[in-house]
Amino acid sequence: MPKVLIADPLSPAAEAIFKERGLEVDTRVGLGKDELIAIIGDYDGLAVRSATKVTAEVLAAARRLKVVGRAGIGVDNIDVEAATRHGVVVMNTPFGNSVTTAEHTISLMLALARQIPAADRSTRAGRWEKNRFMGVELMGKTLGLIGCGNIGSIVADRAQGLKMRVIAFDPFLSPERAADLNVEKVELDALLARADVISLHAPLTEQTRNILSRENLQKTRPGVRIINCARGGLVDEAAVCDLIRAGHIAGAAFDVFTVEPARESPLFALEEVIVTPHLGAATMEAQENVALQVAEQISDYLMTGA
Ligand code: MLT
Repeated sequence: MPKVLIADPLSPAAEAIFKERGLEVDTRVGLGKDELIAIIGDYDGLAVRSATKVTAEVLAAARRLKVVGRAGIGVDNIDVEAATRHGVVVMNTPFGNSVTTAEHTISLMLALARQIPAADRSTRAGRWEKNRFMGVELMGKTLGLIGCGNIGSIVADRAQGLKMRVIAFDPFLSPERAADLNVEKVELDALLARADVISLHAPLTEQTRNILSRENLQKTRPGVRIINCARGGLVDEAAVCDLIRAGHIAGAAFDVFTVEPARESPLFALEEVIVTPHLGAATMEAQENVALQVAEQISDYLMTGA
């Protein structure tokens, strides 16, 4: 009977599915690197979120391992090249948390437009600063999406509900799909020049790293707002701080950071910045979805080779 290790906190539904499907399952959350290396040789499947680092060293010790399943989208915590060398399949759950992440993006966009966290802090402090927190309407504004795949396309749909115009830079977006989404496909420079709000929905790759570099941020419209719910490393965080201080960028919201966990950052000092601790996928529904999906996928693969 194939044996699976759940190494990060997953909804209990995952364990139930593995058992129903006839697999043996152990849940061992919070293992140190050496502890994982010591036991991984006993397992055919490994289910993780983002905390467990599935390194080349772990994979070298995983004599029986056939599959690593990531309950979520990004596989940054898995050495995919090493897995491939060892004949281990790496799978993710690309759809389970897309709506949740898109909703977090829209929440941050609305919060930025109306400076809700800063107004909340001020009101609790007993100040009644109605004039200080003058906001902007989103209706009629242009949202520029960098990346218009699973999550970006849901953000586009929700933003259109707010009557925004949506443009997107995404080399993988076909003209037909763009037309279906009612999104205008543009080059990056055009997006930088036109967008009132820029939101990133791309993975971190060699092509996208630092895509909002200092140089590109300087090409944006004065008063632009920037949102990153995708991956740290896509945006030059120091340049965002400088351009906010210079009055060029009106505000920014970061759910992800170049270094995580982000315990300190120059971004934290700025009132115009909203920060959350990588909460994009953190809803009950999304976590249930990704746990179910990863358990189904791993079970299918180990029980039928599908
Ligand atoms: C993902 O890649 O699925 C999201 O960033 C959420 C997460 O890492 O948990």
